[in-house]
Amino acid sequence: MSKHTVKTIQAMRDNNETITMLTAYDFPTAKKVNDAGIDMILVGDSCAMVVHGHPNTLTATMDMMVLHCGSVARACDRTMVIADMPFGSFQYSIEDTMKNAARFVTEAGVDGVKFEATPNHIEKTKAVVQMGIACVGHVGLHPQAVGALGGLKAQGRDIDSARKVVSEALALQEAGVFAIIFEAVPEKLSDYVTKKLSVPTISIGGGPKCSGQLLVTPDVLGMYDNFTPSFAKQYVNMGQMMTDTFTLYAKEVKEGVFPAKEHSYGMSDEVLDMIIKEFGEI
Ligand code: KIV
Repeated sequence: MSKHTVKTIQAMRDNNETITMLTAYDFPTAKKVNDAGIDMILVGDSCAMVVHGHPNTLTATMDMMVLHCGSVARACDRTMVIADMPFGSFQYSIEDTMKNAARFVTEAGVDGVKFEATPNHIEKTKAVVQMGIACVGHVGLHPQAVGALGGLKAQGRDIDSARKVVSEALALQEAGVFAIIFEAVPEKLSDYVTKKLSVPTISIGGGPKCSGQLLVTPDVLGMYDNFTPSFAKQYVNMGQMMTDTFTLYAKEVKEGVFPAKEHSYGMSDEVLDMIIKEFGEI
């Protein structure tokens, strides 16, 4: 199958075929996600937390994100790869936003960019769309606003917050984004907006009625336990499997079980004799 594009993702939504999306930050994981037939990858600024161990996403930089995006993009021949614009990459000016979005395309080879654009950034979203770059919007919980929000909390539960989610989604569609991520918003609200919009909606904590679903891969794999949102589902405990594996490796090394003969290189006795002659007996 050829690579997903804005057209195939829109067609999935129009045909009521649920879109699958996961995050990835490195080549081997992205390859597995691609090979599993997942439709889209987000190289999220969540990498600041789940890969680099920071307490929130605010420390992700353009250089960090471009490096991760390149590794992911090189692994994907089917999955559409979306780069997350980190904090500070689109807040200052339209020109900065355009240059940073272009870096993701030219230096990393991604298929599109996403930003946590509030109404203040609609003009910047439009400018990037007009450059010909596929853009994804993001409404509801904006983790980059963790300071102003006072924590990573669900959004859209009261009238003011719900109105904000609806109007931002409509404005983003108007600006030309090809999909919108709904993070941590009530199911009833994302259902309502999904029906109102013509572009696909992708839920991460936005309930089952969106056009697609997204999870943070280390949450799915049980690889990150510093912070787990209530909407995340762990499918396997790879973190525990890794600890068990490393413990077994250490035991085998200490007991002389590893390396075995098949893990070592051979050499003729003649060569060894010559070495002993040259450098002396032990
Ligand atoms: O960085 C990220 O992984 C994200 C998702 C949580 C939407 O922005």
